[in-house]
Amino acid sequence: MRIATALLLASLLWIAGCASAPPAKDALYDGLGGRAGIEALVETLLFRVSDDPRIAHHFKDVDIINLNDRLVEFLCVQSGGPCSYAGKDMAEAHKHVNIAEADFNALVEDLMWAMDQRQLPRATQNRLLRRLAAMQRDVVRRGPPPPEAPLLPPQP
Ligand code: HEM
Repeated sequence: MRIATALLLASLLWIAGCASAPPAKDALYDGLGGRAGIEALVETLLFRVSDDPRIAHHFKDVDIINLNDRLVEFLCVQSGGPCSYAGKDMAEAHKHVNIAEADFNALVEDLMWAMDQRQLPRATQNRLLRRLAAMQRDVVRRGPPPPEAPLLPPQP
């Protein structure tokens, strides 16, 4: 009887211990270097993007401090880190930005460059890229591109 009570007590303590343990972290968050690694990665990425003639124009009127903070939170959550994201969802955040597929690919190239600069292992890079690729349909505009310039009136 005593042994049974001791076993019951031990298993209750074990369950309580599990319940109070922090949630298991995703390996991707650790692979990115935790919060500090993500902050460094986002800083490197935003510098690169603002210097990239293919897409820099999209960011010229943007509150870059806010974008930096939201991106850090977003990548932290997406990689399984202990953060919360206070920004808009991807479709809402980008619906007025008019992003073409080529713009998306340019940003992915810049991110790959930034991850190389931070010396992140290829396996970690690929895990992050896979997660972001799944968001492409929310970020890239649907439908035909807007006209480049107003049409000239017909010649008299
Ligand atoms: C999977 C890819 C992408 C992710 C995860 C992402 C993530 C984000 C996040 C978290 C925000 C902040 C939203 C907020 O302030 O509430 C944001 C805003 C923004 N993103 Fe992206 N983004 C992606 C692709 C792109 C691309 C390809 C471009 C353009 C080339 C772009 C341009 C912008 C701009 C201009 C804003 C600021 C919008 C504003 O403040 O009005 N994003 N993005």
